[in-house]
Amino acid sequence: MDPITLKVNGRDRQVTVAPDTPLLWVLRDTLELTGTKFGCGVGQCGACTVHVDGDAVRSCTTPVSQAVGKKITTIEGLSADSTHPLQVAWVAEDVPQCGYCQSGQIMQAAALLAQKPHPSETEVIEAMNGNLCRCGTYHRIRKAIARAAG
Ligand code: FES
Repeated sequence: MDPITLKVNGRDRQVTVAPDTPLLWVLRDTLELTGTKFGCGVGQCGACTVHVDGDAVRSCTTPVSQAVGKKITTIEGLSADSTHPLQVAWVAEDVPQCGYCQSGQIMQAAALLAQKPHPSETEVIEAMNGNLCRCGTYHRIRKAIARAAG
């Protein structure tokens, strides 16, 4: 296997993995960026959401080869010091319960706000529809997104 160069959180990172390895496992196991979570592994829950060229993608079903040459952002790279408006709002609204799905929720919401800084409630619900939370924090998630959107 030849090394692959990935651009992750603004840095070039070299990894030697099979091209069909899911991006999730390269991020978590190879690069030790464990903020991105494994939930279902089949693109259904959103726990593994990261940004690839600004789009929210399910890293569990994205082969690493598809991310080569693109800008990958994980929760660790969303802001330098955890002060992205969504992170601030998440704390202010006390969103997480167990917390497991929350980095995926924030990354999904961040992609939405980057494209649509002031989404309607319906747009928020539609954008967040595929991100599951077993604790049922949906109401607080929506409040936090509204707070961050100002
Ligand atoms: Fe990727 Fe569930 S772990 S969508």
